[in-house]
Amino acid sequence: MRIALLGYGTVGSGIGRIVETHDLGIEIAKILCLPKECDEPRKTSSYDEILAEPGLDVIVEAMGGQEPAHTFIMQALERGISVVTANKAVVAAHLGEFVGAAKASGAGLYVEASCGGGIPWLASIAKVKRIDAIDSFSGILNGTTNFIIDQMKKNDEDFSEALSRAQELGYAERDPSADIDGIDVANKCIITASLAFGCDCIRDLPVFGIRNLTAADLAHYAYEGYGVKLLARGICRDGRYAVAVEPVLVPSDSLEANVPDNFNIATLEGATVGPLKFYGQGAGSLPTGNACVQDLLDCRDGNQLTFDLDPSITYDPELLTGDYVIRTTAAFPQGGTAFGIGSKRYKGLTADAAHKLMRTIVADDPSAFMACIPTTL
Ligand code: HSE
Repeated sequence: MRIALLGYGTVGSGIGRIVETHDLGIEIAKILCLPKECDEPRKTSSYDEILAEPGLDVIVEAMGGQEPAHTFIMQALERGISVVTANKAVVAAHLGEFVGAAKASGAGLYVEASCGGGIPWLASIAKVKRIDAIDSFSGILNGTTNFIIDQMKKNDEDFSEALSRAQELGYAERDPSADIDGIDVANKCIITASLAFGCDCIRDLPVFGIRNLTAADLAHYAYEGYGVKLLARGICRDGRYAVAVEPVLVPSDSLEANVPDNFNIATLEGATVGPLKFYGQGAGSLPTGNACVQDLLDCRDGNQLTFDLDPSITYDPELLTGDYVIRTTAAFPQGGTAFGIGSKRYKGLTADAAHKLMRTIVADDPSAFMACIPTTL
């Protein structure tokens, strides 16, 4: 199998190392990089040269970001060249367009590495769906934020110190706001829901990150018997679905509360299989590279995920409700009950309603924080 790599950063170099140290029958024929990095014959800064390369089986997009990744993926798919990508931002934004182009040309579209790094999360969803409808999923799908929370808890580090280390270790996005404001998880949530529920998942789902989480919040939640984790959650019932990304209070003795470092954990629920949990490295060069190489092997073997994106499966925010704990120095909305000093608990809100409420509060108190205590999931 002859492939081209677009980008040789964290993910691209991980793919390179795995391919070069394992006898998988994969040859890296071309590498797209910046002109100043073109220091060997395989490297080029011209995408046209890559598209013109004879006998190329797959293009692996490992650049990240929207453009030119989106254009390059479309050009490959339209020419019938299969694409492997780890780029959750571009996949979440253009999934329908990519699926359509791949279908029209007969090319394959492989996106395992876009959700959960080295964890075979999407492949497992596809496997479960052969028998069960998937009713719900939830997951810690961002290594950087899990690492930050874990470091704050274990080492009494402050937020920015823990974030800097996540950046040094190669977990964090180029713009860390994507991690700490929940955008990265939202992208993974969109891709997961699209596959698990077969819906054309909304893009403007409720998203609230952990930027305002403090050591005092962590201590307070621990006193109440909880850990806090940034979770993607989705639920599907009778042709309707809801999704949200937000800090969630999980019982201190749960698996989720005890996920360390940059690990991810993702759970799904199927009617006959029951709950399944998948735990592993959600970020980093080799785990993400591993998922891309698995996709290459699936492409060689003719296996690929099917995204249905059925528009008749509709978004219904009423499906995802919970209690919400809000900490603010601004005026509290009516109706809450005390939840420790400086916080109140609001019962039975939809994620949509809680996030709308929080937008008003944050306008007055930019350091306010909110976490969900789930009742439906
Ligand atoms: N920044 C992401 C994370 C990388 O920390 O999980 C993997 O998607």
